Amino acid sequence: MIRALILGYGFLGKALAKRLLNRPVEELKIVGLANSKGYLYKRDGLQLEKIKEPLEDNEGFEKGRATELLTKEYIDLLIELTPTNISTGEPGITHIRTALKEEIDVVTANKGPVLLALKELKRIADEKNVIFKYEGTVGGGIPIFSLVNKCLQGDDIISIRGILNGTTNYILTRMHFEGLTFELALREAIMLGIAERNPTLDVEGIDTAVKILILANSIMNLNKNLSDVKIVGVTKVTPEAISAAKDNGMTIKLIGSIEDGELSVEPRLIRLNHPLCVHGTLNAINIKSNVLKTLTLIGEGAGESTVASLLNDIYDVIKERHSKIKF
Ligand code: HSE
Repeated sequence: MIRALILGYGFLGKALAKRLLNRPVEELKIVGLANSKGYLYKRDGLQLEKIKEPLEDNEGFEKGRATELLTKEYIDLLIELTPTNISTGEPGITHIRTALKEEIDVVTANKGPVLLALKELKRIADEKNVIFKYEGTVGGGIPIFSLVNKCLQGDDIISIRGILNGTTNYILTRMHFEGLTFELALREAIMLGIAERNPTLDVEGIDTAVKILILANSIMNLNKNLSDVKIVGVTKVTPEAISAAKDNGMTIKLIGSIEDGELSVEPRLIRLNHPLCVHGTLNAINIKSNVLKTLTLIGEGAGESTVASLLNDIYDVIKERHSKIKF
């Protein structure tokens, strides 16, 4: 039995707990739930159906930091879902580093630590012979890392391009099809709950750049940081520009790309029938490789669908730790 702690009980943490309550995973026991104020821990597993919100209202809630649970005495798996901070990576980096050093497997959807400390965290995981997985950091529920790792072994990835931010794609879609203003479309995207806490990160292209960097450093084994990415956001995309594109069977999309070792994020003209031209909150990722040549993945890139990536990572951990379990 794998004993897991969900550290970070916001939108995603709650969505994952709800899924695990409705469809329990054999061989996984949630022993801890933690937020920034403290935690609940029960050695033989929490009864998820009895958890009240907020967490602090539950009997047995311990005030303080859940970092004291990051030892093998208490847990086998850390599911790290604290808010992303792309400047410091904290508190996520400390949580993940501590857990890996304690020989605890880690699954996360937190972009900050993977952006800023991927190499270090992978090295610790290798040294300690533990698993570190981060599928949910890019493309929400789209299994981009699993696909490349499991289905393109032996191929060489040459370039990656994609729409990687649901908020800006929603805005551009509403501007193109309904003629909405940028401001109104942004307000709608915020109400959908997919925008970052600071939506400037979405509209200025930073969130896309972060995801492009995670793809570049992870899949293409580069060693780039934010200053290596040419970034132009969507704030200057005018209704007139979109209308002119539309008249020519095209539209404008915020495209992140890794081509010839160069990383960029910018609004680009794209034909409406191009495989990458998806609408609404969808993401699309195109991979070019030597053998397969081209592959495009389309899916929900934000919100609750990210739980699909978390589940897949969790199953990978369980399978690796209990290789005889049948699923
Ligand atoms: N703000 C992000 C988006 C959330 O709109 O895609 C998912 O990373």
